[in-house]
Amino acid sequence: MVPAVRRTSGSLSSAAAEKLRQAGVPEPEASAEVLLSELLGMRRSEASLYDGPLTDEHAAVYGAWISRRGSREPVQRILGKAYFRNLTLNLSDSTLVPRADTESVVEAVLERIDRRGFGRVLDVGTGSGAIAISVSQERPSCEVHATDLSEAALRTARHNADRAGAGVRFHAADLLHGLDKLRGGVDLLVSNPPYVRTADLVGLDPEVRAWDPAAALDGGPDGLAFYRRIFREAPPLLSRGAELVLEVGDGQAAEVLGLGEAAGYPPLGTYPDLTGTTRAVLLGRP
Ligand SMILES: C[S@@+](CC[C@H](N)C(=O)[O-])C[C@H]1O[C@@H](n2cnc3c(N)ncnc32)[C@H](O)[C@@H]1O
Repeated sequence: MVPAVRRTSGSLSSAAAEKLRQAGVPEPEASAEVLLSELLGMRRSEASLYDGPLTDEHAAVYGAWISRRGSREPVQRILGKAYFRNLTLNLSDSTLVPRADTESVVEAVLERIDRRGFGRVLDVGTGSGAIAISVSQERPSCEVHATDLSEAALRTARHNADRAGAGVRFHAADLLHGLDKLRGGVDLLVSNPPYVRTADLVGLDPEVRAWDPAAALDGGPDGLAFYRRIFREAPPLLSRGAELVLEVGDGQAAEVLGLGEAAGYPPLGTYPDLTGTTRAVLLGRP
């Protein structure tokens, strides 16, 4: 088999990165290195320098992966998995690729659990299960529940939880409907809801627009539809003294806190992500 990525000078991944650069892929070195490291089972730093031979089979697979990346398929979709905190999560067409930004939302949740001694957490719109499984794994004394509207996403999340040995309880639900068993018992509601304005969907990067499910992105005309619904539907589920940690899109924090306050939820704070952008808001119970 003829290798699709030929090395001219430097390492194999730098030759592949050059192809990706020419195709207009952002951060081409990162993609080329991560894909090679996954293929060869090496650290990324080793893969970035690797100029050794590839078997025909590896060369063919790497060439095919680089070509898919060149067509703007995300690395995580090519590999079928994503790394999130301590977890390796399987993905499907129905799950969002969990973002590094959301790891800081988990940090916020853990901080509130530790500070308030919360026992029962509900993750609304769990997707691959990233938030719920992390919380369950990192705070095993908590009872963690998670919902999604998508049965297919829940199948992937259940698989991910089983693999991580996390005892998350999953529920198929339209947001907070039908969760009567949790009535009055949720201490911490966390959600990374769809928050992109509908009109902005077409302008998203191809990696997101073509590969993440629209149902995981579309937050309605102003991007805030799910926050309004959460504020409307949450009260019967919340315990006395409960809190909400909600991921927000860039520039949405003040609006979401304002909506919450108007609905009776006291604004308690915000949390930054790794870039310093406000990524989550904290509200009390109405
Ligand atoms: C932005 S994604 C977040 C996924 C995951 N929590 C994460 O952070 O990676 C939003 C999730 O909400 C789910 N969702 C959309 N509409 C929903 C609804 N009406 N009820 C429950 N979940 C919904 C989507 O299927 C998707 O999994």
